[in-house]
Amino acid sequence: MNKLLKIFNQKVPSSDVSFINKKYKSLRYSPSFKVTGNVEDDKGLTIRRSVVFTGRQLIRASSNLSQGKLLYKLAAFTSNDIGSKINIIEFGTCVGISGMYLLAGMNKETGGKLTTFEGISELAEISKNNFDEFLQNKKLFKSKYDIKLGRFKDTVVNHITKLNEPIHLAFVDGDHSEKTTLKLHNLLKKVLHTDGIIIHDDISDSEEMERAWEKIKMEEGANKIAVLKLGGMPSRGIVFMSGHGQKEVQTYDLDNFFERILRRLFRKFKI
Ligand SMILES: C[S@@+](CC[C@H](N)C(=O)[O-])C[C@H]1O[C@@H](n2cnc3c(N)ncnc32)[C@H](O)[C@@H]1O
Repeated sequence: MNKLLKIFNQKVPSSDVSFINKKYKSLRYSPSFKVTGNVEDDKGLTIRRSVVFTGRQLIRASSNLSQGKLLYKLAAFTSNDIGSKINIIEFGTCVGISGMYLLAGMNKETGGKLTTFEGISELAEISKNNFDEFLQNKKLFKSKYDIKLGRFKDTVVNHITKLNEPIHLAFVDGDHSEKTTLKLHNLLKKVLHTDGIIIHDDISDSEEMERAWEKIKMEEGANKIAVLKLGGMPSRGIVFMSGHGQKEVQTYDLDNFFERILRRLFRKFKI
């Protein structure tokens, strides 16, 4: 049985996700804000740096409706498959758009918990407000969340080593270096449920990510790998720990023909 087709064929009621899509679209008009913090340079030295976040950047960093609906479907499928509370982990919260799709997909009766990691306190604060408003608005009383604030290297290992329940679904969408991507992938495998699923974002955004994804594909094998395309380009990679039911890598387009052409034009002219 092709798991991915089953996942794709689920319906996403627009009433479940319209709130999230409105939040996503409204990011365009959100005021710019400046964040100052410590980052490491190439030599591992800590330097002070300021970054200005604009609404457009937040939109670009966040999951769009097609990507979000698939996150919803993955959470819904896993939730119903497990038949009880599910545990979802996310690396890279930003303003909580993907997190809200993951919360929305959880079975309303059995619920679950989303643990999401973010390094920038201003973003964590916005996502907290978004999660609270969303859960309240949709009356999702059994879906819980926890935002872990801090750099992945200071928060993730500490959290994972203390877990006493398996993770069912993981979304890796933060530090897109080859080293961190592989490290997070291998760490997740230690705590993943036997039927668990890992989603990696931006698998062809840089040479580092292409290398990391190639290594993951080789290590896991084609029968566990699916690739989601946006604008005809590999965008998100999915690893099904117990296989997806087919021998070959599964590839799916998240957008339709016209959206693909538009995306290509946007990319070409850097709009
Ligand atoms: C692409 S955005 C996440 C978008 C979000 N998952 C969505 O789809 O709506 C990546 C986020 O990861 C955070 N991040 C990146 N590297 C990090 C690190 N090493 N530690 C903590 N947070 C990090 C960034 O601050 C940013 O908010």
